[in-house]
Amino acid sequence: MSFNPLKEKGLSLEKQLRNWHQIVGKPYNKTEVDCYTRTRQILMNGIEVEAWGFKHQFNRFLHDEEVKNTIAQISRIEDSQQATANWMGPADQSVLETTLGYEQVAVDLTAWMAQNEPDKYVKETFDFGLLEDFDHLYRYSQFAYMVEGIEPNDIVQGQTDVIVGRPTQHHHNCNGIRRRKHYDKATAAPQTKVNILTLVSGEQQTHNYYAEHGFMYADHVLRETYAEIKDVEEEHVTMYESLIDPTESLYEKLLIHEFTEVCNYYTCMEDEVDDRIKKTWELFLDIELGHLQIAADLFKKYEKRDPEEVVGDEIVIPCRFMSQKDYVQKVLEKEANKRLGMDKDYTTIDKLPEDWPSYRVQKKQNEISSPSENSIRLAEIYHDRDIIAADKELADKEVSILKKGLQKEALAENTVMPDELEGMIKEYEKNKDKLEELI
Ligand SMILES: [Fe+2]
Ligand SMILES: [Fe+2]
Ligand SMILES: [Fe+2]
Ligand SMILES: [Fe+2]
Repeated sequence: MSFNPLKEKGLSLEKQLRNWHQIVGKPYNKTEVDCYTRTRQILMNGIEVEAWGFKHQFNRFLHDEEVKNTIAQISRIEDSQQATANWMGPADQSVLETTLGYEQVAVDLTAWMAQNEPDKYVKETFDFGLLEDFDHLYRYSQFAYMVEGIEPNDIVQGQTDVIVGRPTQHHHNCNGIRRRKHYDKATAAPQTKVNILTLVSGEQQTHNYYAEHGFMYADHVLRETYAEIKDVEEEHVTMYESLIDPTESLYEKLLIHEFTEVCNYYTCMEDEVDDRIKKTWELFLDIELGHLQIAADLFKKYEKRDPEEVVGDEIVIPCRFMSQKDYVQKVLEKEANKRLGMDKDYTTIDKLPEDWPSYRVQKKQNEISSPSENSIRLAEIYHDRDIIAADKELADKEVSILKKGLQKEALAENTVMPDELEGMIKEYEKNKDKLEELI
């Protein structure tokens, strides 16, 4: 690739202000939109929220009037981009529908990054997180069916499998051991820096979305499930952000933030199938190239270093949204029993010490019941078995995947055990014709 963002001028800051009509465009149609247009829209909202939040934090540490002024002007532009990206979502797309979109982002984004990540340890961390968001998609799909009559494929359009992963009740860890080893800013590839910041932004926004919307349903078990999964997203933010070198200066971080925005909009622009939305991505790429120029100039002035040392001399691709079923299946079959080790490493259930700090957390949080387990118990009442969307080959492995993923220790009392799931599946097969007649 020959595109070097640092060599582009982009749109100057004075030309970046837009009117309300431009900021609030026309939403997409939820029944016609390509699922990966929706994932791009959801991800870019998260990227803009991070870009905006970081600048406000940055400004609170700044003394220089001129720099404060520049950063304040850019943060207002980031905010207007956030509105445009987020409000592409239509008013009639329910919270649960949007939620399935968020988890599809997490699964397919993390899977793509894991395969394009040069740092082995970072890749392993992506694979680990991947199986958790994969299980969230499955748990929320139960409620989407029960509460709103939505099939998972109404949202994921057959591109992402929906079936049990590493069970959500086991995602709760001591947040201390969630933390990972950080990359070395001097040697890490720009791809690694962009991958991690993109994922942190996505996970942070997923957390915020559940925090702000989980209460909007009356169903108590669903409200508890939002709270439960929100807690895991909090852990995901902790896990992924800890991969970032804490010794990067604020100007270096500013540079990486703008570069990450550039790379993401560049990818969106290349991949977008909706011509109208593609024009927005093109404009936003131009805006971000303008921000990158400013960040690079500030970096040169205050750090007296070459920005290429930090972000390289070419664009990197944080994500091509496309089906990742084969890759995810491979990780799923191999790693459902994987757990966090005590030394920022990874281990498996059978090797966990008795005093593993996450047991204490899980015992407390799930002491009455695990809401995400109740999601399957309720689905059994509605549908004889859990709601899944997977081809027969994968569907036939569901009981064995569950068996592999379940711990013996700190198991919630209401856990759906593998033999129970097997019984549900048999019952469903027996009544299938009658059930489908009802639908
Ligand atoms: Fe932005
Ligand atoms: Fe998730
Ligand atoms: Fe997540
Ligand atoms: Fe920006």
